[in-house]
Amino acid sequence: MNTYFELHISINPKIEDEVSSICFERLNCEGVVLAEEKYKDLEMISTTEGTLKVFLTENSVKDIDEIKSVLKEEREFLKSQGLSDDDLGSWEISFEEKENEDWSKKWKENWDVTHISDNVVIVPSWLEYTPKRNEIVISLDPGHAFGTGTHQTTQLCVKAMEEYPGFKSVADIGTGSGILAIIAKKMGADYVYGCDNDPDVIDVAKENAQKNGVECKFEYNTADKVDDKFDFVCANILHNVLYEIMPDLKRLMNDNGKMVLSGILDEKKDVVLQAIEENNLKILKTNRQDQWVSFVVEGK
Ligand SMILES: C[S@@+](CC[C@H](N)C(=O)[O-])C[C@H]1O[C@@H](n2cnc3c(N)ncnc32)[C@H](O)[C@@H]1O
Repeated sequence: MNTYFELHISINPKIEDEVSSICFERLNCEGVVLAEEKYKDLEMISTTEGTLKVFLTENSVKDIDEIKSVLKEEREFLKSQGLSDDDLGSWEISFEEKENEDWSKKWKENWDVTHISDNVVIVPSWLEYTPKRNEIVISLDPGHAFGTGTHQTTQLCVKAMEEYPGFKSVADIGTGSGILAIIAKKMGADYVYGCDNDPDVIDVAKENAQKNGVECKFEYNTADKVDDKFDFVCANILHNVLYEIMPDLKRLMNDNGKMVLSGILDEKKDVVLQAIEENNLKILKTNRQDQWVSFVVEGK
């Protein structure tokens, strides 16, 4: 019988992207689905909200002990980064062998067109979409990279770019799928630079830019090795990393430059506020979405 394996992990839906990345990178899974909803007469009758379904095939890790040990290690890492048990969910797992239906399409069916702001729409690369007037449409295939646009921290960066438009040069530090860089370019920037300290995401970002017909410069790099200065800097990275690299991020802003700092859990914002203070930056705007907070800053 042609079969595949479905791993179910109980998570806090807010960290879907992080757990999905772990499953792609460490378990070599083929796809993930969060929250399948069933409707009857337009009323939702059931949901799997909070359960990440992970599709495993012949090339994936399928040994249950190995899966448990990977998840334990990654959970401990996220906890060491400041995430609590509530932020993470229980990560209890169950494992099922299933008869092969068209599972490879199944996870894709669940990621739909997403309006991530009033003007920006993310469309999975395998779907068609007719834009409304003035809408910025991004066609995206995140592959193994973070950044489908559904995450609050990404949306907070987009909001900041919309609130402080008119930039001509943009740096996207921690670019992932390249989503913010591509949006910046489509918003009218002449020069967009994106880098990430994960070498595997750079090709994904390049392919996404190409699919969207825009040119951005993407590199495997970190902020300390970037020499240019920019009108606008996006940094959607966890709070502790933001703290460490704040002097480098500051150096990337030109004289009138602005920067959005995102990826910050509300309960961890003091760490970033301290870095803002220590680096003599001024907060122009604080935005919140669920338990996530972002700051738009400039030099004093
Ligand atoms: C939360 S994702 C953001 C992805 C995308 N920019 C978005 O907003 O959806 C953070 C990204 O930062 C990268 N990253 C983490 N630490 C970094 C560092 N010190 N320098 C550059 N990139 C880093 C990660 O590999 C990851 O791709």
